Amino acid sequence: MHTEECSAIGDSDVCNPAIDEDYHALAQLIARVGIVCGKPLTHECDCDKCPEGKPELCFDSLIEIGREIMVRMLEHFHREDDLMKALPRNRSTREHCAAHRREHVYFSTRYNQSVAPINVHHPVTGLRTVDTFISDWIRSHILEYDVKLASLLKTESLRQ
Ligand SMILES: [Fe+2]
Repeated sequence: MHTEECSAIGDSDVCNPAIDEDYHALAQLIARVGIVCGKPLTHECDCDKCPEGKPELCFDSLIEIGREIMVRMLEHFHREDDLMKALPRNRSTREHCAAHRREHVYFSTRYNQSVAPINVHHPVTGLRTVDTFISDWIRSHILEYDVKLASLLKTESLRQ
């Protein structure tokens, strides 16, 4: 299946089995972020209006999910790093790999920034930053860099 066809199937499928498996696991974590609060993450959503004990429960869930996202993210970056090492070295792959690795460092930093506001008294703030982080990762990183990596791997496999 071509990358274009695969992208049309789902927001995160890049048509590489290893990468796609990671994304499906991440998609489940994203879905869990979406149900932590039980209300849409609008600006009106305010933990001060929640029943006693609810913010602490949300906080515990968000901390657990945040840890899983971090573990999955780092595993995924390592996996992609190994895939990049397997590419033939030419100008196109060198440029892609250098930019792709810089993006992984950038998203690791972004992850730390997104979990920093997680607060036991007002977890919705952290929920919003984690939610934004994941959306940005999917929109700007997966669609721009991971799709390109899958395409380079596919081209290489066809040459062999
Ligand atoms: Fe990547």
